Amino acid sequence: MRTIVHVSDLHFGRTKPLLEKALKAIIERRSPDLVIVSGDITQRATALQFHSAHKFFSSLPYPMLVVPGNHDVPLYSVWRRFFLPYTLYKRYISEELDPQYEDAEMLVVGVNTVRIFKIMEGRVSGKQIARVKALFAVALPGKIKILVSHHPFNIPVGHRKRPLAHARHFWKSQINTGIDIILSGHLHDTLGVYSDRAYKLSTPGPLLIQAGTAISTRNRKEANSINIITLSTSHIALDRYEYVQHKQTFTIKKTEFFVRQGKSWIRDIDRSRRTSRPCHGTGCEILSRRCELCDWQSELHIS
Ligand SMILES: [Fe+2]
Ligand SMILES: [Fe+2]
Repeated sequence: MRTIVHVSDLHFGRTKPLLEKALKAIIERRSPDLVIVSGDITQRATALQFHSAHKFFSSLPYPMLVVPGNHDVPLYSVWRRFFLPYTLYKRYISEELDPQYEDAEMLVVGVNTVRIFKIMEGRVSGKQIARVKALFAVALPGKIKILVSHHPFNIPVGHRKRPLAHARHFWKSQINTGIDIILSGHLHDTLGVYSDRAYKLSTPGPLLIQAGTAISTRNRKEANSINIITLSTSHIALDRYEYVQHKQTFTIKKTEFFVRQGKSWIRDIDRSRRTSRPCHGTGCEILSRRCELCDWQSELHIS
């Protein structure tokens, strides 16, 4: 069993200070095995903004995997944008633009989808597709395979943005790699989880999970939010946390369960149950979550 905190679009330079504190608190409370940041760490890729992000990330004592977003390369300085786009990112965040993380239960591969000439839409290259395929192909059986990008590999019907360039090529080549989850950001909408059916593939695709903006003032239609994912090879519980202003904290807005069925995942959204009771040991609240499809249960202590 692993716990992943998935945050995105922090936009340091346009953050709300109270939210930074609340985000740190909720991450520490869930004590994850890995924190994933799917891009747009800064607002305008300045040294000051990267420094703030670095300070925040350094305060978290957990492994991290971070990919750049379109806001993490300079916008107004054309010279820096074309010739030194990642200098500050590499100095303050990571030398690695396509990172990976592996432990006994999961393999997480990050892809940098930012392109100077396709700044809003993003792109995945043939070389990146080949790398993803090769890494997942040699993963030990039973490992959960997770891909991370800033720009989404698919967009829900009706959304005004488009999936990143070469997404169709990616889907075709990834059919047999058995990716379990793709985590992305960029839209500033959580949007729910949906499959890759838009590309009319013959085999079931991975779960696509979008995170909203974690701590920035750049909200679209929804409150600031993050995802916390508890997963094993057979189960996924996706907790969507939203920031509640009057409590000054992130609280669970919705939990969705997924159960593995063959190479795919079944959503158990309508049948998932949440109950809570006081925890007499610590004075906090115990949130019990049970998947009625398979009776899998988990408990969280929430202070
Ligand atoms: Fe963003
Ligand atoms: Fe973005």
